[in-house]
Amino acid sequence: MQHLIYPSILSADLGNLKSEIGMLNVSEADAIHIDIMDGVFVPNISFGFPIVETIKKYSEKPLDIHLMITNPNLYLEKFIAAGANSLLVHYESNNSLYRTIEKIKKLGVKAGVVLNPHSPVNLIKDIIADLDVVLIMTVDPGYGGQEFINWSYRKIEELKNLIISRQANTLIQVDGGVNTNNAKRLVKSGADILVAGNFIFQASDPITVISKLKLLKT
Ligand code: DX5
Ligand code: ZN
Repeated sequence: MQHLIYPSILSADLGNLKSEIGMLNVSEADAIHIDIMDGVFVPNISFGFPIVETIKKYSEKPLDIHLMITNPNLYLEKFIAAGANSLLVHYESNNSLYRTIEKIKKLGVKAGVVLNPHSPVNLIKDIIADLDVVLIMTVDPGYGGQEFINWSYRKIEELKNLIISRQANTLIQVDGGVNTNNAKRLVKSGADILVAGNFIFQASDPITVISKLKLLKT
């Protein structure tokens, strides 16, 4: 399949949220990635339900919600009611991941597990076929604009091999420090979905940047 581009709204100009979403609506973005941070699981606080609902109101694209919170199980229904089309929970935040994944899928949206840079791929090998998506963090989560961790390519390759060996349909998503210099190699390594924040929203022409990421042009 052609790889997908999910701009991360964390880096958008929040004073102009409506027009930033309007820009994404006319771009080649495939979904909007929304980072939810609780100030405990990661050392930063981002968006709550009113912002997610506002994004939903104006977006013509699906919402991909990345939960960087200590107890995601408490809020799954609420994020789905607010407009999530996919929910991503961290391996590191959950002791009953299988139950969480099954619940998300039963609630009718796509379910994904996120691995921090220090968490190896083999942690999820037994549940891989149950997952719609695995998100490989290529920075430590918490902030936009951080530098891509260079050894992430081999982790993506390892995950791709696991998915093939289990004959699973799981997609590989990558988040953190993605730009046009590393996009091509990420896709070649096995990435299906690229999340990009700063690289898109700091650009003078975000629509062209999204298009370049889609075409894997530098
Ligand atoms: C980091 C977030 C990312 C972030 C990516 O904790 O999960 O989604 O917005 O931003 P960039 O692309 O700037 O690294
Ligand atoms: Zn994210």
